[in-house]
Amino acid sequence: MHNEKAAVELEDVSLIFGGDHPADEAVLAVHDINLTIPTGQFVAVVGPSGCGKTTILNMLAGLIPATKGSVRRYGSEITGPSDDIGYMLARSALSPWRTARKNVELGMEIQGVPKNERLTKSKELLRRLRLEDFADSFPSQLSQGMNQRVAIARTLALNPDLWLMDEPFGALDAQTRLTVQAEFIELWESEGKTVIFVTHDLEEAVLLADRVIVMTARPGRIKSDTIIDLPRPRVLDELRFDEKFKEAEHRIWRELRDEIV
Ligand SMILES: Nc1ncnc2c1ncn2[C@@H]1O[C@H](COP(=O)(O)OP(=O)(O)OP(=O)(O)O)[C@@H](O)[C@H]1O
Ligand SMILES: [Mg+2]
Repeated sequence: MHNEKAAVELEDVSLIFGGDHPADEAVLAVHDINLTIPTGQFVAVVGPSGCGKTTILNMLAGLIPATKGSVRRYGSEITGPSDDIGYMLARSALSPWRTARKNVELGMEIQGVPKNERLTKSKELLRRLRLEDFADSFPSQLSQGMNQRVAIARTLALNPDLWLMDEPFGALDAQTRLTVQAEFIELWESEGKTVIFVTHDLEEAVLLADRVIVMTARPGRIKSDTIIDLPRPRVLDELRFDEKFKEAEHRIWRELRDEIV
């Protein structure tokens, strides 16, 4: 049953919150999830609010244990947080009193990475996210999109091989989102790491991902699982108008729509 090659495997995973005492009503958040993700796949997860998307990421990040079933990485049970996993949230707040570079270096400082190594890594990431000129700026001096790019750099600073992203661009305005999406996909395409990317934006899911999972309303189960067979590298501005893209988006929208109404 164990698949050593799978970056991530969830087998019959359910999660119940609460119910520990009579006043605390139990909530079945996710129900019998089975999901195998091969190394290097970009998986987007969409589904109605409250269906358990964040809960699944939290289990993968080792922050909460599954109530039932097994959550594995490369065949080993996940038992707690790990530096191999980068976790980014929609409002991944930066430290306001640290510069962009110092924010990127935070995790490395905690890990005791030597100063020159930290500097090399943070410089490289900031360059790749086109922020090299803003390394010494503070978050309050940067635009929203720049802040979010710093947050991406911070998430990737310890070279995680699994990227968990919970609506990472959800707080950005529509225009900024386009730019950050394009930069992010370029970065990902050059790294090829395994990504689980939660989003409310179906267009974003289909544009970026190799595979889109639709979840049902709570208790969350997997409703559909679709491979997005679009070539890479993806040029998002062109892809948006591509017939194959629109067809895929439309097909998945029909699955999702029934869960949202
Ligand atoms: N710590 C908790 N204690 C009790 N219930 C919780 C807890 N965390 C989440 N839940 C419940 O579990 C369900 C799933 O929550 P989760 O945050 O995973 O949903 P989601 O799909 O990420 O939603 P959204 O799209 O709004 O972010 C919800 O009904 C929520 O109320
Ligand atoms: Mg959530």
